[in-house]
Amino acid sequence: MTSTVSAPAATTESPARGLVCRACGAEYPLVAQHACYECFGPLEVAYDSAALARVTRAQIEAGPQNIWRYAGLLPAGQDPATRVTLDPGLTPLVSAPGLAARLGITAPLWVKDDSANPTHSFKDRVVSVALTAARGLGFTRYACASTGNLANSVAAHAARAGVPSIVFIPHDLEPGKIITTAVYGGELVAIQGSYDDVNRLCGELVETDEFEDTAFVNVNVRPFYAEGSKTLGYEVAEQLGWRIPAQVVIPMASGELLTKVDKAFSELVEIGLVDAPAGGWTVFGAQSAGCNPIATALQGGTDEIVPVKPTGIAKSLNIGDPAAGAYAIEAVKRTGGWMDYADDDEIRDGIRLLAETTGVFAETAGGTTVAVLKKLVESGKLDPAKETVVLNTGEGLKTLDAVAELVGPTHTIKPSLRGAREAGLLG
Ligand SMILES: Cc1ncc(COP(=O)(O)O)c(C=O)c1O
Ligand SMILES: [Zn+2]
Repeated sequence: MTSTVSAPAATTESPARGLVCRACGAEYPLVAQHACYECFGPLEVAYDSAALARVTRAQIEAGPQNIWRYAGLLPAGQDPATRVTLDPGLTPLVSAPGLAARLGITAPLWVKDDSANPTHSFKDRVVSVALTAARGLGFTRYACASTGNLANSVAAHAARAGVPSIVFIPHDLEPGKIITTAVYGGELVAIQGSYDDVNRLCGELVETDEFEDTAFVNVNVRPFYAEGSKTLGYEVAEQLGWRIPAQVVIPMASGELLTKVDKAFSELVEIGLVDAPAGGWTVFGAQSAGCNPIATALQGGTDEIVPVKPTGIAKSLNIGDPAAGAYAIEAVKRTGGWMDYADDDEIRDGIRLLAETTGVFAETAGGTTVAVLKKLVESGKLDPAKETVVLNTGEGLKTLDAVAELVGPTHTIKPSLRGAREAGLLG
């Protein structure tokens, strides 16, 4: 940790004061519970606003070069000794003038490249916060229901902490997601069903005596897990010099990430760490055509999400029954944004366009987001004259199959000058 003369020491107390129902407002203590007993609505962490307001820019800037610099705004992990973490975060915010030019965007365009996290997706953020909270709540085994990236991250965090893990995935994930989970040595259960089947089963397992000691990061400790996504929003603002961009394009599976980036911006304004941009900020959501229940609902003018059976190459986004979908729609509508979706060919084009213009190789989720950014510009929903940040949440090396047949050597030659000449590489 670097130190400055002016930053008063950050407190080791959590600013969280309880859990609150997102639907009816009922309040609960900070325990491993994710649904409201009154109305079955999802719970989220509520904070003591005075405690949040004590956090200063100087304190954050003097903190570690990872998500824990925002510990004063998170529910757990204020004391470094209590953390279960790979220290993710402070990933690059890449200026993308080449991509902007290709899309007709005239204002600054940025790619927040979360493939630079320890297990190469933004999920390290949510897992670090969830498992730190889980450890404090006394859990001794770590688990999740995953579309791939979460599996990588839970298995790696458990390995680093020396705690057993059991990770549940759909059996038909990309090899690049299965291998990069299995290598960490925990239990890995492939289920003959979709992610939604996996999630349902985990919801049943968590109620059994055998799993009483187990924290499922996105089931029983979900309220803490979800808060980890706020750090993406905080970082974007800090890296822009404590400014919130006018527009952000965000991939959606459950829709949670989108709601938490929006929440992060709101908190920063509320506690006076940044001024809201003139005209506020606008959030946009990206899905694939093979799994677009949130975007379809918004485009149809409703927040009633009709679950779908997902298909298509953007497997990390394939949640057919998205838990935070209605809240994502609320955030997009409130900020004047829009949602759209891209088909598999458009996703492949998105991966290549991003790679060719920025040097960032995204997985299918990032390809989806770039493809949707392009559509939003073309449809006039996104203002090309306003500063925009697009989130790349995962790593292209994990989904190589998506582009394997589209790219390769441009020349194959014999190892001689003659070979080079024959291929047209020499005069
Ligand atoms: C790479 C990637 N991006 C985005 C998401 C979407 O996250 P959320 O479920 O919070 O909408 C996921 C979820 O698994 C993911 O793996
Ligand atoms: Zn409720």
